[in-house]
Amino acid sequence: MSPILEVTGINKTFGAVTAAKDINVSVANDEIIGIIGANGAGKTTFVNMVTGWLEPTTGSIKFDGRDITGMAPRRITRLGISRSFQVAQVFSTATVFDNLMIALGIAETTSILSALRPLRRAGLEQRADLLLKRYRIDDYRDAVASTLPQGVRKLLDIAMAMVSEPRILLLDEPTSGISVEEKFDLMDIVMSALKEEGVTVLFVEHDMEIVERYVDRVLAFYQGEIICDAPPSEALIDPKVIEFVIGDEPQGQMMREKAALHTGSGETSDA
Ligand SMILES: Nc1ncnc2c1ncn2[C@@H]1O[C@H](COP(=O)(O)OP(=O)(O)OP(=O)(O)O)[C@@H](O)[C@H]1O
Ligand SMILES: [Mg+2]
Repeated sequence: MSPILEVTGINKTFGAVTAAKDINVSVANDEIIGIIGANGAGKTTFVNMVTGWLEPTTGSIKFDGRDITGMAPRRITRLGISRSFQVAQVFSTATVFDNLMIALGIAETTSILSALRPLRRAGLEQRADLLLKRYRIDDYRDAVASTLPQGVRKLLDIAMAMVSEPRILLLDEPTSGISVEEKFDLMDIVMSALKEEGVTVLFVEHDMEIVERYVDRVLAFYQGEIICDAPPSEALIDPKVIEFVIGDEPQGQMMREKAALHTGSGETSDA
């Protein structure tokens, strides 16, 4: 089957900084991909380029066979690629329900002309209620967003990214700011909701236990390059990944021990 997303030879430089270096990735429909890498490795830059927030210096990005390189974010969203941000982007003075209605209204407005037509309010309300249930935030329907617990805020942000019914969703650190105890509950909700929606997912994650549990495939970034592209069973024991990615993360020691067991080296030191 032809890939839903095809990234070919993209590079991005900011002055002297190389944030992306010859990145080549082909994503199949329905894949769940984890993007890992230390701070500054180029993960957000990659997400920004695929979603149109940054234009690659060179290279091309194809979505469903169509060249989307350099297209504006709104146009890319309309075609079927949506995203969430590292910091949840919700309207803090509006209620959860109204946040969804605003996002649905924006998604509905695809041209100047359609903006003049009355929105199909009943249809949008139904969709908002379905999203509230699917992302398990219906108890917070009438709560003002600024008062939400961090986990609910994250779920709302992801539900809002799904209003346009994208075929690809990119999440930039969906579990950042969430306590270790709450992370798995949050990801269980997110992943089962996204599975119901049948969307291809790429998410940036620092927690290797989350990566191990939820993804089919790992893209490991280091200094703007992809240093490993493999299933988690291989990627999380890859020596380069351990040295340049996992070593800096909270579970680095545990993962190094696992890798040592796997290779039988018995080497678990930080050396
Ligand atoms: N708009 C920008 N202008 C200049 N430099 C930038 C810009 N965006 C990113 N960079 C640089 O590009 C590199 C990659 O940054 P990026 O934000 O993609 O990293 P990241 O992997 O998402 O890191 P983190 O885990 O901290 O979110 C860094 O050196 C960063 O400082
Ligand atoms: Mg980032």
